[in-house]
Order: sequence, then structure tokens, then C-alpha cells
Amino acid sequence: MGEALLEAGGESMLPPQAFLERLKDFGQEHTLGRWKELNEVERDELICELEAVDLPRVSRIARKTLQRGDSLRNPVPLAEASVSCIEERTAQERERWWGLGLKAISEGKLAVLLLSGGQGTRLGSNDPKGCINIGLPSGKSLFQLQAERILRIQKLASNRAGSGRLVMIPWYIMTSPFTDTATRQFFEAKKYFGLEAQQVIFFQQGTLPCVTKEGKIIMESACKISRAPDGNGGVYAALKTSGHLEDMAKRGIHYVDCFSVDNALVRVADPLFLGYCIDRNVSCAAKAVKKLYPQERVGVFVRRAKNGPVAVLEYSELDPALASSVNQETGRLNFKWSNICMQMYSLEFLAAVTDELEQDSIYHVAEKTIPSADGPVQGIKLEQYIFDAFPYAPSVAIFEVVREEEFAPVKNASGVDSPESARLLLLRLHMRWVVAAGGFILHSVPLHLTGVEVSPLISYAGENLEEICHGRSFHVPCEIR
Ligand code: UD1
Repeated sequence: MGEALLEAGGESMLPPQAFLERLKDFGQEHTLGRWKELNEVERDELICELEAVDLPRVSRIARKTLQRGDSLRNPVPLAEASVSCIEERTAQERERWWGLGLKAISEGKLAVLLLSGGQGTRLGSNDPKGCINIGLPSGKSLFQLQAERILRIQKLASNRAGSGRLVMIPWYIMTSPFTDTATRQFFEAKKYFGLEAQQVIFFQQGTLPCVTKEGKIIMESACKISRAPDGNGGVYAALKTSGHLEDMAKRGIHYVDCFSVDNALVRVADPLFLGYCIDRNVSCAAKAVKKLYPQERVGVFVRRAKNGPVAVLEYSELDPALASSVNQETGRLNFKWSNICMQMYSLEFLAAVTDELEQDSIYHVAEKTIPSADGPVQGIKLEQYIFDAFPYAPSVAIFEVVREEEFAPVKNASGVDSPESARLLLLRLHMRWVVAAGGFILHSVPLHLTGVEVSPLISYAGENLEEICHGRSFHVPCEIR
């Protein structure tokens, strides 16, 4: 293609030679394919675009990822004993973990980290997913539910700290070029939901060029590269390049609670989970629930080999036959431990794993139809997943929680895992809390369609409700504030 360009016209028609040579070094000279057709402004634009690409990095990632292919053909199911089940713990043990976690929070050792760079394509919305109002009586968005849970834990931790000291949990929010502006504007418009503006820290994940199966960069137009976010695992590189890992260390953070935006029941800054991690002295832990049916769209915890490290195999990567395979002794699914995208890391582990992941270039291939200068083409988005870090941990503690208490995913516009199903799961749980606290539920519409919502500002996990609910009746739908 370089030759074609040289033949194409006079000196002024040519791209800078050194630039062309550099592209050739990485087999990307085709990106100048429409040079002749561009005016001067467009040529400058194209050069800026290409100069911004870290060519050695992109070609290393593309080459290693495309060569590696599906590296986990024979995953091994996780043994029952590898998973700690919350329901099997005594009340004393749970209280001890809760206390341990709350103490660490009151000492300012916890930061929370939200993954919010996804585009919500399945939901059919252009807004960041966290802005979604799932139709609760209060009309709260997912962001607001999360913010208020942080406020509640801050209050409990401040009470524990005593002497009027106010505990502040820093909330790091990872956005992408597709969600950044709208997310910041939403938080500003809602006055950070009562949090301090300075405790909410936004940063953007990176993007990577989309490539063909041969690793060639796809051009969206004659002077623009086609790019896509680098997956939620892009958080590792983004935390490092943004300087936030250092910022966390300066703040005295020891643990980072990381979660996805689209779970209406997510227990942000969960003291119990933190206490469990501290007690077990682990640098990496993840919450799990049992898979409901083989085709459920959740990643599953596996071992990479017998006695090998724990990993997550995404639903799109697990062979359907393996997904349906059943343990002959128990009659249960072999791969039953589902990832619900809630993980706890020590800051030390986060700092160490980033370089290892970068060096090994662990990325996944998402085959997509990509709009290009030559019309739609079959291409590849290169994505890292948040759980790609797990195999690097000395051990990963898997903590089984109660699905009905902690997992209400919002993925699709309707039906399974939709705003409606998430709303009903939340209302059902909160009604159980109210009844357990001695309250009564009155209804003139069928209860399976509605319910009572409890504001996170008064209760995080069902605590503190006796005084408010005992002997009182609540006519659904309503919010208890
Ligand atoms: C995710 C998990 C899956 C788990 C399921 C539970 C991953 C890769 N998969 O699947 O194992 O069973 O949740 O609900 O984590 N995000 C970014 N940047 C991106 C892409 C996504 O920040 O480039 C964020 C999303 O905003 C969301 C989270 O990551 O908060 C999960 O991403 P999503 O792509 O929705 O993953 P799922 O397919 O739902």
C-alpha cells in the first residue's frame, strides 16, 4: 500500500515517510488507504488519530489474543468445599465479620469502585445504566440506590467510630467515552445524592481499536479509527494510568470493593463481605450464587485445571454441553457457582496484578459487526474482563450469598433480568424485612405486582426496622423513609 501511495501523486499527496514506515513496522499501513481522498484538515485528523495509538501495545494485545484463542477448553468444576456459604454460618460468625468490616470502614480503609463503562446495548438505552429508574415507588435510579447504601454504611461506621467523627467512603466510578459526560451530569444534577462531591471520583477506562481477524485496525471512516471500550477489566490499567491507585494509598485505603452497575440489590461497601476477607486474610474474593439453569447468562467460577487457579468462564465462552452437564452424585449442575460481579481486593493485590495483566495481555475476543469506511465488516473488539485478575491471586475466596438478598440484575429491556424483574425482587425482599420487623402489609392490588420499598437511608440489610415497622401497617405500593 505504501508503494501505491508513492505512485499516486506528487510530494504533497504523500503521507510523511517516517510515519508510513512506523505503520508498516506494525502491519497497519492500510489505515492510510484513503489518504488521497482526504483534504488537509482530514489528513491532520488522521495523523492525530494514528499517533494516539500505542502501536506496540495494540499489536501485542491483538497478536497474543488472536494466537491464544480459547485457552480454557477443559475447565474443572469448583469443589463444594472451595466455597464459603453464608447461610451455613452461625449468627455469631456473621456478626463478627460484620463488626470486623465495619471497624475497618470506620478506620477509613475501604474504597468502593463502580464499573460503569458499559453501553447497556441489551437494555436498548443510550443513557448510562446507572441512570435507569426501575419503577420503584420512590422512582430512585440505580445510582441513587448505590449512593444511599454508601450513606447508610457511612452512618453506621461513624456511629461505631464515635466522638462525632464522620466516616467518608471514597467512591471511584469508572466510566467510558460513551458514559462519561452523561454520568457526571447526572450526579451533578442530583447533587451527588447527598454524598460529598469530593468523595465521588470519576475516571475513564481506555478504548482499543477494533481489528480484523488478521489483527488489522478497522477504520470507521477515512480519517477515524473504529474504537471500543477495553472491557470492564480495563479498570486495572485505568486505575494505574489515572493515578488513582496512588491516590487510594495516600488516603490509607487497604481494601477496594468493586461492583457492577446493573444489580438493584448490590450491597455496596458490605461490612460482612469485608470482614470475611479480613478474617480469611485474602487479597481477592468474589461473591457467588448458585446458577438457576444451564443457559442463565452468568459467568461461572471454575478451576483452570485440576488444583489449578480459580477463574471465571463467561457464559459466552462456556461450551453449552458443559454448561448443562450434571454431577452424577448430586444431580446438580457441574458448573453451578455463578459470578455476580461483586469482588473485594486488597489494594496491594490491585497494584501488583495490573502490571502482570498488562504483560501477559490477557484479552477476550468479542466478534461483532463493526461499521467501517467500507460498510459493515466482521471484526473483533478486544476486551479484558474484571475477573481476568483472579488467576493471579495467591488464592481467591468464593463467598456464596443468598441470591434473593443480593442479586437483581438489570440487563434486558423486558422479561428475564429486566427493570421489572429487578424491581419485584427488591420489593419482595423489603417486604420480608418489614414483616420480620413486625409490620403489616395491606394491599388492594395483587402483591406479586408491587410491594414495599425500604429506603437504604434507614436500612442497609434489614436492620433498624423494628422501631419503624413494629405494629404498623403499610399500604402498598409505598416507600418507608
Ligand atoms: C457480567 C459478568 C458475568 C456475570 C454477570 C452478572 C463480566 C465480564 N461479566 O456479565 O460474569 O455473571 O455480570 O450480572 O464482568 N462494563 C464496563 N466497561 C466495559 C464493559 C462493561 O465498565 O467496557 C461494566 C458494565 O457497566 C457493568 C459491568 O461492567 O457494570 C458488567 O458488564 P456487562 O458487559 O454488563 O457484563 P454482563 O454480560 O452483564
